[in-house]
Amino acid sequence: MMSGFLYLAAAVLFILSIRGLSSPKSARLGNYLGIIGMSLAIATALFAVPAERLLPIIFALALGGIIGVISGQKVKITALPQMIAAFNGLGGGAAVFLAGGEILSGGLHPLATSVGAVIGALAFSGSMVAFAKLQGILSGKGLKFKFQHALNLVFSAVTLVLFVAYLVSGQTELFWMMTILALLLGVLLVLPIGGADMPIVISVLNAYSGWAGVGVGFMLNQTLLIITGTIVGAGGAILAYVMTKAMNSSLKQVMLGQNSKSEGNSSDFSDAVAKSGSPTDAAFIMENAEKIIIVPGFGMAAARAQHAVKEMADILRKKYHVDVRFAIHPVAGRMPGHMNVLLAEANVPYDEIFEMEDINREFATADVAYVIGANDITNPLAKSDPSSPIYGMPVLDVGAAKNVFFVKRSLGSGYAGVENPLFFQPNTTMLYGDAKAVTEAIVKELEK
Ligand code: TAP
Repeated sequence: MMSGFLYLAAAVLFILSIRGLSSPKSARLGNYLGIIGMSLAIATALFAVPAERLLPIIFALALGGIIGVISGQKVKITALPQMIAAFNGLGGGAAVFLAGGEILSGGLHPLATSVGAVIGALAFSGSMVAFAKLQGILSGKGLKFKFQHALNLVFSAVTLVLFVAYLVSGQTELFWMMTILALLLGVLLVLPIGGADMPIVISVLNAYSGWAGVGVGFMLNQTLLIITGTIVGAGGAILAYVMTKAMNSSLKQVMLGQNSKSEGNSSDFSDAVAKSGSPTDAAFIMENAEKIIIVPGFGMAAARAQHAVKEMADILRKKYHVDVRFAIHPVAGRMPGHMNVLLAEANVPYDEIFEMEDINREFATADVAYVIGANDITNPLAKSDPSSPIYGMPVLDVGAAKNVFFVKRSLGSGYAGVENPLFFQPNTTMLYGDAKAVTEAIVKELEK
């Protein structure tokens, strides 16, 4: 009875934690609420365990805790997607082990156990492939072969048949065959998906691991696991949906690997010439500007340039009295909230950061758009070229600013593999180089 109440309190804390994470202002509190909820849940679970079984559990907790702390501290922010993929996979793997253990000990809930095993196996092997792609162990390109979808369909159908056959007959061999097939299916489903769509795939796999948790929760009669599994399952599914919407794609396109076609584009800029400038030129224009909008993208994360950008914004504001704002596109970078996290890390005040729909009209009255390591999220082809893979994605109207500075190392394309006509626009100046080095050079000039 008491434990039921404590689990309920933990579940409420988890929900409040997610609520807190929905805004940068309350995110820290949200994190603390999550930590308190999880500590409460673990303590309550430990009290229910017979004393003689405590030792292995504490050992497992310590091992998991040490791995968690070390990876939390060591992993670079650019490698967060693969860390999330790996942790997701572990959640799915844990569900498979629990279900397997239940079968070996003659468990009583075949339906919940099978659901946990199949979805957990999919989440585990799929996440491992996603991890390998993001880490560069496997090629980031979608791996495609003939009859791929037909093969996946056959595997799915056989898994389903084994699922039903096991429930009807109770033969454990069928359970193991079904689990192995689900493991294979996880690999096959993720292989054709291009590395760039991985954040969405990870969200979907995250949802799977949540639902596997729900299955295991029913199997173990664990209300808290059912609640948390549902939160993770729904959260992952909603996130995947929001991401695909913001990229003007669809879950079907992503999950069938149809987005990987997004290479090349129909426009040809081989004869166009882009004007380039130096940090000194940029600093001169910026210190004489009234309004500057900074647009960060993936390259800022890759170069870890957020501190230099914050310094640049501060000097411009304090020494030159420029109105400086940051514009955030919903899919800038490689994961949801990527830019917000980096700017928060650099202590950029929240009231200087604007979402796309709140700032897009301001570019027309800005003297400078400082686009740092961003590309696709500014590409006007998204509005004008129906054959472009990014067609339909809302973009930041940086081209409307009086001067546009693109800080990047080359004229190379971004994630979607599409050339950007803005580079060749008369009001654009390319500032070639590493995002951090260029911004630091501008800061030096501004300090003079
Ligand atoms: P991208 O379009 O990928 O462009 C990033 C640019 O940064 C590249 O063109 C690259 O040009 C430059 N760059 C890389 N390293 C750099 C460095 N060290 N210094 C300076 N520049 C550097 O990024 P974006 O504009 O942020 O757009 C995000 C893209 O990712 C969108 O297409 C979006 O759909 C996709 N996506 C986003 C998410 C989420 S949830 N955020 C998830 C999946 C996919 P150079 O090589 O010339 O330097």
